[in-house]
Amino acid sequence: MQRKYLVFKMMHAPRYTLLLALTTVCHVMMGPSSCVAAQKKTSCVVEDGRADCSHLSLREVPPNLPGNLTSLDMSHNRLGGIPPTSLTPYPGLLHLDVSYNSITGLVGGLCQTLPLLQTLNVKHNQVLYLKKEDLSHCTSLTQLNLASNRLRLQGEPFIALQSLTFLDVSLNKLKSAKLGSQPQLPSLVNLSLALNDFTTLKNDDFSFLNQSSFLQVLNLSAVSLKTLEPGCFKPISRIRTLIMDGSKTGTLIIAKLCSQLSGTAIDVLSLRNMRLVTLTNTTFTGLQETNLTSLDLSGNGMGKIEKGSFKWLSELQSLVLAENNIKHLTKDIFQGLTSLKRLNLTLALVKSHTSAVPIIDDYSFQPLNALETLILKKTAVREITENAFTGLTSLKELDMSWTTYTDLKNITNKTFVSLARSPLRKLNLIGADVKQINPGCFSVFRNLTTLLLDHNYIKQTLTGREFEGLDRIQEIYMSDNFQKVNLSSTSFVNVPNLRVLTLGKSLIATALDRDPSPFSPLSNLTFLDLSNNNIANIRGNMLEGLVNLKVLKLQHNNLARVWKSANQGGPVLFLKGAQKLTSLLMDSNGLDEIPVDALRGLTELRELSLGNNLLNSLKDTIFEDLNSLRALYLQKNLITTVRPEVFQTPMSNLSLLVMGKNPFDCTCESILWFMTWMNKTNMTSVPGLREQYTCNTPLTYFNRSVMDFDALSCKDMTPFQALYILSSTAVLMLMVTALLVRFHGWRFEFYWNILINRTLGFSDASVEEGREFEYDAYVICAEDDGSWVDRRLVPLEKSNCKFCLEDRDAVAGMSVLQSIVDNIRKSRKILFVVTEALLRDPWCRRFTAHQALHQVIEASRDSVVLVFLQDVHDYRLSQSLFLRRGMLRPCCVLDWPVHKERVPAFHQKLLIALGMTNRFQE
Ligand SMILES: *[C@@H]1O[C@H](CO)[C@@H](O)[C@H](O)[C@H]1NC(C)=O
Ligand SMILES: *[C@@H]1O[C@H](CO)[C@@H](O)[C@H](O)[C@H]1NC(C)=O
Ligand SMILES: *[C@@H]1O[C@H](CO)[C@@H](O)[C@H](O)[C@H]1NC(C)=O
Ligand SMILES: *[C@@H]1O[C@H](CO)[C@@H](O)[C@H](O)[C@H]1NC(C)=O
Ligand SMILES: *[C@@H]1O[C@H](CO)[C@@H](O)[C@H](O)[C@H]1NC(C)=O
Ligand SMILES: *[C@@H]1O[C@H](CO)[C@@H](O)[C@H](O)[C@H]1NC(C)=O
Ligand SMILES: *[C@@H]1O[C@H](CO)[C@@H](O)[C@H](O)[C@H]1NC(C)=O
Repeated sequence: MQRKYLVFKMMHAPRYTLLLALTTVCHVMMGPSSCVAAQKKTSCVVEDGRADCSHLSLREVPPNLPGNLTSLDMSHNRLGGIPPTSLTPYPGLLHLDVSYNSITGLVGGLCQTLPLLQTLNVKHNQVLYLKKEDLSHCTSLTQLNLASNRLRLQGEPFIALQSLTFLDVSLNKLKSAKLGSQPQLPSLVNLSLALNDFTTLKNDDFSFLNQSSFLQVLNLSAVSLKTLEPGCFKPISRIRTLIMDGSKTGTLIIAKLCSQLSGTAIDVLSLRNMRLVTLTNTTFTGLQETNLTSLDLSGNGMGKIEKGSFKWLSELQSLVLAENNIKHLTKDIFQGLTSLKRLNLTLALVKSHTSAVPIIDDYSFQPLNALETLILKKTAVREITENAFTGLTSLKELDMSWTTYTDLKNITNKTFVSLARSPLRKLNLIGADVKQINPGCFSVFRNLTTLLLDHNYIKQTLTGREFEGLDRIQEIYMSDNFQKVNLSSTSFVNVPNLRVLTLGKSLIATALDRDPSPFSPLSNLTFLDLSNNNIANIRGNMLEGLVNLKVLKLQHNNLARVWKSANQGGPVLFLKGAQKLTSLLMDSNGLDEIPVDALRGLTELRELSLGNNLLNSLKDTIFEDLNSLRALYLQKNLITTVRPEVFQTPMSNLSLLVMGKNPFDCTCESILWFMTWMNKTNMTSVPGLREQYTCNTPLTYFNRSVMDFDALSCKDMTPFQALYILSSTAVLMLMVTALLVRFHGWRFEFYWNILINRTLGFSDASVEEGREFEYDAYVICAEDDGSWVDRRLVPLEKSNCKFCLEDRDAVAGMSVLQSIVDNIRKSRKILFVVTEALLRDPWCRRFTAHQALHQVIEASRDSVVLVFLQDVHDYRLSQSLFLRRGMLRPCCVLDWPVHKERVPAFHQKLLIALGMTNRFQE
């Protein structure tokens, strides 16, 4: 029935849904641009009012684009100029990009044609002369990029740009920073003069920015300043960011620069890659009268920092000294940096073959009592001495990743004593060459929440004492320790608040075969990574008590045996302890079986990944509880069929299905449901649908896409199937009817008659009921049994009941027949004294009994009482009298008792039978 329904739906799923799905998949996987760019672009791409005409070798602006364009990208073409007429079709343009062309000049009418223009990018062209008229109407322009041209400014070319916030004239061989003589550019925020040829800043160079009260950023990167006239920054004293990266100036010029910055609003100063090899105690003197918060000195090859060099920078919050060559940190270097929050020393202390291992003196960081983050990444230091970090009383994060410190190879309870007063939250020891962690080595870190120990060489059994004192720890990362770590039942007893624990590629293969489980104290654990450990043995109680576990990573282990039904003691259902799982990864485990109850109860599971296993036939209900599933990965298995019995529930809410590279069997039974599902689903993304879902069998479909499978071929089966079901049902019903009629036909006949009589109203039972009967019972018996009647029934008349005996009570003067009819009508009940003799008696059979029954049926009374003197078979009874025991109520069928002592009881029963109401009871 199911199949019929699905085929019906299939017929209504047009072919183009497939195409649509493919395009969608492409978009989801690679973003919209690459789907289009896959084949080389030959014309402009227009989307949402934006036209992309880049890289088309165009010599002019195409005239036939939609007139309502707001954005036009003409970059990387062969434009020699932008004649305004070529843009008249697009008066609504807000953004025009003509970078990377061969434009030699801007033409005055441009902004007249494009009055709304906001951004104009002319980067990397050949613009030579720039005059006032060229930009005269560009009052709406907010961004102008003229970088990498050959600018010769004539007059005041920028004077009209009232709205301009961003101006880039870098790399133009400008001989002066002076872009005009009158005050202009009132809205300017960001000015780049980088990579130009001037070496002097005269005191009126920036006077044209006198009234640019929003100016914040000045970029002078790679400008080799030699002379700074006093007061050169005065007109722009509101700048907050100055970038001097790559300028080849010496320490002396920097000192001059700083003194010119004195009194400005400078906040961020970037002095990267300037060959600033030494810092003296006067270099930054000029910055004392500023509120500088961020200073970047990275990449300067700096070897020497005089003591007190930073003492002027009491407001500094961030100092980057990365990529330098500092040999020796002494206790006076950071003097005065009382506000410093972040110190980045990445690659600042390095060992080379020509130099010794750098040294950090005791108390070097003591002045930095506001420091919250210290980054010592990729440094080498000879020794972590007893007071190396003393004084860092605000330190929250210490990054010592990828370092080579001898002291970190074997971390003892002495290694970090200098951090005992630091409220450290995060300690990063990734790749720090750690080989051993000893009892109590982290015990000074009472406030630590995150400990990173990935990519080390830890080779030991964790007894639990290593984590002593980590009272607040929530996350321990210990992946990539080369499968040398062993666990014990007590490994984590000291860290009961742990939320995250990663042990991927760290454990020896037998590490988890412990009872009780090492994880049993971790009831708060939400994330557990045990991947890449080659683990083969785990116990059923491994996750017991992990009631909060959400993510479990077990990929790249060897857990196939654990889930085999042939496993000694049955499959190990280790997931039953972790019913809150939302993500379960078990790829690459050699699994060929999933036990029926393995995933039972995981109703919150959203991601299930079982790729790269050997799964073939999946049992019907294994995924039955997974009704929250959003992502299912089953790629690279041996799955041949995708049946609804297995997949209907997990696929009902899916947003991602990855099931490619399986040897699908493309037959109606195996694949039709899946195909139909894929055509129907619009919320599930199925990447690689065309290429990765191919048929393995049957031969006709070998190596073709599952989507090529002809679903209509399954339809032919349905009429036959329907016919089969129909005919078999008919035969079955016929058989049942025949049997019923054979064995219970009389019952239907009887009730039918009563029903007919009552509904057609031949009689009215309730009226009948009230009628006065003359007799209690009309007795029908064979002549031979008359004596029994005389002896046994007649005496009962004394006790207020009255029988009608035909011999005795025949109405005088009436014919016998008429008398019988009359008397039966006058009697409430009809009592048959059943014996073989009665059944043989033709008179009784033919007339009396017939008449009585006629009466019964007509009056709809259930007024027959049978008294059996002999055991008579029901069959004989129905043959002769058209009566059966089953037609009557049990109390109206009496047997004459064999035992004398039971005769009174018989009498009692008989009276009850006679005294009953006659109404037929439904
Ligand atoms: C531009 O005009 C075309 C019709 O010429 C219209 O389909 C499109 O929606 C318009 N686009 C915008 C951004 O107004
Ligand atoms: C700078 O250091 C020198 C000695 O190296 C010292 O004489 C001088 O007073 C120091 N200057 C300041 C401003 O600290
Ligand atoms: C530095 O900040 C203080 C307080 O915020 C302020 O009074 C002072 O003027 C600022 N100095 C400069 C040079 O901006
Ligand atoms: C430290 O400096 C290096 C080099 O400049 C940089 O790559 C890194 O991002 C910085 N680290 C932090 C945390 O800012
Ligand atoms: C590490 O130090 C502990 C005690 O300080 C010592 O017992 C152990 O042998 C050391 N381990 C290594 C690998 O040096
Ligand atoms: C460090 O551990 C040793 C034993 O390994 C112990 O004697 C010593 O007291 C510990 N020191 C601290 C500061 O806990
Ligand atoms: C740890 O944090 C608490 C408050 O969060 C603070 O009182 C305590 O001083 C900190 N411990 C250390 C060693 O700084």
